[in-house]
Amino acid sequence: MLFRQLYDSTSSTYSYLIASRRGGEALIIDPVLERVGHYLRLIAELDLRLVKAVDTHLHADHITALGALRDRTHCVTVMGEQSKVDVVSMRLADGDRLRIEGISLDVLYTPGHTDDSYSFLLDDRVFTGDTLLIRGTGRTDFQNGDARAQYESLFGRLLKLPDETMVYPAHDYKGDTVSTIGEERRWNPRLQVKSAEDYVTLMENLHLPNPKMMDVAVPANLQQGLPQAEIARRGWALSPAEGIDLLGHRDIAFVDLREKNEREKHGSIPGALHAPYGDLIENLRPGGVLHELAAAGDRSLVFYCAFGERSAMAVQAAQDAGLAGTRHVAGGIAAWKAAKGPVV
Ligand SMILES: [Fe+2]
Repeated sequence: MLFRQLYDSTSSTYSYLIASRRGGEALIIDPVLERVGHYLRLIAELDLRLVKAVDTHLHADHITALGALRDRTHCVTVMGEQSKVDVVSMRLADGDRLRIEGISLDVLYTPGHTDDSYSFLLDDRVFTGDTLLIRGTGRTDFQNGDARAQYESLFGRLLKLPDETMVYPAHDYKGDTVSTIGEERRWNPRLQVKSAEDYVTLMENLHLPNPKMMDVAVPANLQQGLPQAEIARRGWALSPAEGIDLLGHRDIAFVDLREKNEREKHGSIPGALHAPYGDLIENLRPGGVLHELAAAGDRSLVFYCAFGERSAMAVQAAQDAGLAGTRHVAGGIAAWKAAKGPVV
């Protein structure tokens, strides 16, 4: 495995670049906007292809690089289903798996610092966001924070992991880089409480100042969606109602770009072909399944995904590959369902 812990000194944020091998797919957790150039250089040097950019929660102390990395690499942006961000490409919930080639992380919903806080478990290590820090825990006094929920996330979830599990947090302000669950249980002063009530009292009495960047970072982090006006202006976007009207047409092929677990969980448009976004470039090449369907089969492709971001990027790629009739369903399966489109 390739594993890099990256640091932004302005916000004391740790970001994590993970891949199973050189030349393979990579994901990054909690990337910082100002560091995008550095990430892209490292990704190129390690011969990686960034396919997912993930935030553990909506950050208040730095601007996320999710949107910028998506714009530069066409990767999929990922956050939890509770996040109030306008659009991300993929949303996760507790019990889901976050996958790239050769790597699979367990998705743990660990609210408390915010109501959209997640942790990600990768075998011997856990990425705890701001839920569990080294000798600390994330504050719970804004962004729908909840000390009682955090107590449950800590004692009910994270501290139940094996003692030797390595803890990789989203921040450290003292220069520590990694800890373990056993070490934190023993030495983390916030975890020496007797009950949830004690923890709530402890957190209520912290009286911390707001993060310096909060008034800038939170609004910026809420607006990470891909601008789609140009796609619509070119006539490449279908409203869900327009898409529903095309159902059953012989010369139209609906193409689902989501992953298998997303389809199983949220349903698919009847008769749609499954061609995950990760294989898109391969599938659009001459000889690829989508190229042959469109070029040789004389069918127009209609892409869709969860919320319309992967499909918007795919429309551009298909148009670039010469498949001029390609369009996408704006807003994805979420908008389709809201418009009462049929789902199987
Ligand atoms: Fe945070």
